[in-house]
Amino acid sequence: MSPTPLRLAILGSGNIGLALAKGLVKAGLTAAEHITLTRRSVAALAPLAQAGYQTTSDNRAAIAAADIVVLAVLPQQLNKLLDELAAGLDPARHLLISVVSGVSCQDIRQQTGHAALRVVRAMPNTAISIAQSMTCVASDSASDTDLGLVEKMFDTVGVSIRINEELMTSATALCACGIAFFLRAIRAASQGGTEIGFHAHDALKMAAQTAQGAAALLLQLNTHPEQEIDKVTSPKGCTIAGLNEMEHQGFSSALIKGIKTSAVKAGSLYKEG
Ligand SMILES: NC(=O)c1ccc[n+]([C@@H]2O[C@H](COP(=O)([O-])OP(=O)(O)OC[C@H]3O[C@@H](n4cnc5c(N)ncnc54)[C@H](OP(=O)(O)O)[C@@H]3O)[C@@H](O)[C@H]2O)c1
Repeated sequence: MSPTPLRLAILGSGNIGLALAKGLVKAGLTAAEHITLTRRSVAALAPLAQAGYQTTSDNRAAIAAADIVVLAVLPQQLNKLLDELAAGLDPARHLLISVVSGVSCQDIRQQTGHAALRVVRAMPNTAISIAQSMTCVASDSASDTDLGLVEKMFDTVGVSIRINEELMTSATALCACGIAFFLRAIRAASQGGTEIGFHAHDALKMAAQTAQGAAALLLQLNTHPEQEIDKVTSPKGCTIAGLNEMEHQGFSSALIKGIKTSAVKAGSLYKEG
């Protein structure tokens, strides 16, 4: 653990906020006692208080004890929270990290009235709960040091990558919504498996483990999907027959079109309210 422990306030301790808190503590980046967790129904945080975290519904008090402030409420809850924080924020001290979808760094500075506030955005996905998130990190003005710290924090709950802020809505579609896309693909594979003879629970397990193996081949061997596909497609074989049938039915096209549609929608959510 570093000599000066990270002091964090996680405002909005729901799925994402709590997963991050637990990841940071598990990785030894800070201790539970240095993390203040907030939510309005604070009673729901009782088990976390027992585990050593500070818990409160008072967001202003939480940021008074922190250098890093994580915003993890829903998009529609954010402006009210920022209004509440504005007077207590100190741009010289506080680094704000927002996981809120569709809200820019500039939106946050504008809402708080602090033009010099350091804001970094992070876009994790729900695999954060098992420390397997793909998290995209971006800012319009934060320093390399701040961005590096945020990457280090999210590396405790998966893998992080630094991107340009204008690509954050695309990251939402590919990585956050992407969880659902790949889950649907696994479900479809298991349904196919049931039709060719397996009980549903076996088919799902077989499809999910096969999907995990496919992803691991790419990540561990650093290869391209087509290289790995070539290894399983023998001439006149069953794999290429199945694969080509899927392509005739629009498999790749459906995924590409779905991701493009999601990205358009992700870009308009905050503005539409
Ligand atoms: N889920 C995803 O895949 C995903 C991926 C990337 C980014 N995000 C973003 O991450 C954010 C959080 O998502 P989530 O899934 O963790 O949502 P969530 O489980 O609903 O968590 C939000 C939490 O905020 C608390 N809250 C609301 N208003 C508050 C306030 N004024 N002060 C303190 N706490 C407050 C809520 O508790 P109370 O009602 O008790 O206050 C709740 O526990 C969202 O903005 C979402 O867009 C989500």
